[in-house]
Amino acid sequence: MPELIVVDRAGNEKAVEAEAGLSVMEAIRDNGFDELLALCGGCCSCATCHVHVDEAFIDKLPAMDEDEDDLLESSDHRNDQSRLSCQITMTDDLAGLKVAIAPED
Ligand code: FES
Repeated sequence: MPELIVVDRAGNEKAVEAEAGLSVMEAIRDNGFDELLALCGGCCSCATCHVHVDEAFIDKLPAMDEDEDDLLESSDHRNDQSRLSCQITMTDDLAGLKVAIAPED
């Protein structure tokens, strides 16, 4: 099972198991990070699953679609590493992916 490294808002880093096929949001939530609200349950309509992806992995992720881009525009904490974690599916190629939960808007 690929490993996912999650950095919480306090800066604590934790490696968790993330089953391939799950979204990064689901893997984070299933591992007890309640800071990631993911209010819409993954249907790309809330932006409360916002994460900052480690630079080393940005190019390995599928391109974001227009809906994700629009939603991220509503965040004060958007940067070049921003993604909605419900829109990233874990794969074996993403083993070691590191994401930081973005500050709350
Ligand atoms: S969980 Fe709502 S946009 Fe990702």
